[in-house]
Amino acid sequence: MAAQRVWRNRSLVQTLGLSESDVRVVLTRAQELKKMWLGWKGSEFPHASLKGRTVVNLFFESSTRTRSSFELAARRLGGDVLNFTAETSSVTKGETLFDTARNLEAMEPDLLVVRHASAGAPLQLSKMIKVPLINAGDGFHEHPTQAFLDVFTIEEHRGTVKGRHVLIVGDIAHSRVARSNIYLLKTLGARVSVCGPPSLMPPSIEKLGVSVFHDLRKALESADVVMMLRIQLERQNQMQFPSLGEYSKFWGLNAETIGSLKEKAIIMHPGPLNEGVEISQDVATGSYSVIMDQVRNGVIVRMALMDLMVGHD
Ligand code: NCD
Repeated sequence: MAAQRVWRNRSLVQTLGLSESDVRVVLTRAQELKKMWLGWKGSEFPHASLKGRTVVNLFFESSTRTRSSFELAARRLGGDVLNFTAETSSVTKGETLFDTARNLEAMEPDLLVVRHASAGAPLQLSKMIKVPLINAGDGFHEHPTQAFLDVFTIEEHRGTVKGRHVLIVGDIAHSRVARSNIYLLKTLGARVSVCGPPSLMPPSIEKLGVSVFHDLRKALESADVVMMLRIQLERQNQMQFPSLGEYSKFWGLNAETIGSLKEKAIIMHPGPLNEGVEISQDVATGSYSVIMDQVRNGVIVRMALMDLMVGHD
């Protein structure tokens, strides 16, 4: 049977529920676009599939990497981008999410990229409007494009994720990155485990098909990929561990703890980094780290998604 070549869904709100072929379509397109991008020397990228298309970046929560990554991705493909941030919009005058989106929809964009502090806001929006939508992170729910770029980066370095042991470390309870990655990695057949302070572990996490480690050094021994997370203090009512120093001692990656890693293991982090807390500077920039590749691949993977969702044939 011929491999699926098209994106079958209108929007991308979550990785939960995507089929393996849905995921592979995106990863394959990203590989093709990366090859084209690296081989291109001219002034205008030849694959201008978003020419005449308008992408609206609707960010109700701060972002550096993700917003600029979406913007760059759309521009590389020849698209127009309208950046809309909550601080400079009528949201500060009390306009609701729905009204804002309805008004933007009346301007006839081709794609909305939405980040919101409330879990579920992008899903709600996608049901209210007809424009295709990409969730760029909603509260502690999901961050699907981050998971896509992470899997793409793992496969670039280590081949297929199927059967690989991916260890996610830190504040699992408040992390949309962890959730999206768990769903996507499990769909592709990876072995996923989590490790972190019990107070930052969601109840019944095992139900997602992951194993839980309570000892970081032990967990690192068998990991092919280590994904470090930032402590999401903005999503906690109060700090759920004694001190940052203590956190770092038990759950941080540093020159000493990486001694437990396999030779070919890779270290990832979605950013922003809290250097000296979950990861030391030398480890973040050291030989195991693929963090800058994640950032580079973020643009490529978002190009692939936009190309599949709203690009010209
Ligand atoms: C993450 C996010 O905002 O969810 N960062 C990102 O998008 N690159 C992770 C985080 O904030 O810790």
